[in-house]
Amino acid sequence: MTSWPFEVFEPAVASTLSRIARAELSNVRVVVANGAEGLAVLFGPGAIDELWMFFPDPWHKARHHKRRLVGPAFADLVADRLAPGGVWRLATDWADYALWMRQVLDPHPLLQNPAAGWAPRWPERVATKYERRGLHAGRPIYDLTYRRL
Ligand SMILES: C[S@@+](CC[C@H](N)C(=O)[O-])C[C@H]1O[C@@H](n2cnc3c(N)ncnc32)[C@H](O)[C@@H]1O
Repeated sequence: MTSWPFEVFEPAVASTLSRIARAELSNVRVVVANGAEGLAVLFGPGAIDELWMFFPDPWHKARHHKRRLVGPAFADLVADRLAPGGVWRLATDWADYALWMRQVLDPHPLLQNPAAGWAPRWPERVATKYERRGLHAGRPIYDLTYRRL
C-alpha cells in the first residue's frame, strides 16, 4: 500500500523527506499541496482505503474557523474518495474542534461512527510532538474514527 502525506509547509516537507530516506521507505509519495485540493485532484471516487488526519491545525480564533480543514464540504469530499468500508481516522487535542468534528461527521449519511462516540486511541497512531504538547498542557486527546458506508 502506498501512503500519500500532504503538507504545505516546506520545512515540514524537508523533515518528512529526510525521515523517509532514513527509514529507506519506497512506498511514500509526499504531496506538497493543500490537502483538500490534492484529495480532489489526485484521487477518484472510492480510491482511498484510509485517510488519517491527526492534529490538524486548530485555527483558534472564531474568525479563522473557516480555515479548519474539517467541515461539511470536506466531509463530502472525503466520503466520495473513500472506498466503501474505508476508514477516516482523526485526532485532536482541542475540545472545541473535536466537538465540531463530531457535529459535522456523526450525521453524515455516508459515514458511520463505529464507536458511536469517541474512538479508542488507535494503537498504530504514532505519538508526535503535537500530541505530547497537548498532554503536557493538560488537554485530553480526542480520537475519532469513521467508516465509509
Ligand atoms: C499541527 S501539525 C500536525 C502534523 C502531524 N499530523 C502530527 O500529528 O504531528 C499540522 C500540519 O498540517 C500542515 N497543514 C496545515 N494545513 C494543511 C493543508 N490544508 N494541507 C496540507 N497540510 C496542511 C501544517 O503545515 C502542519 O505541518
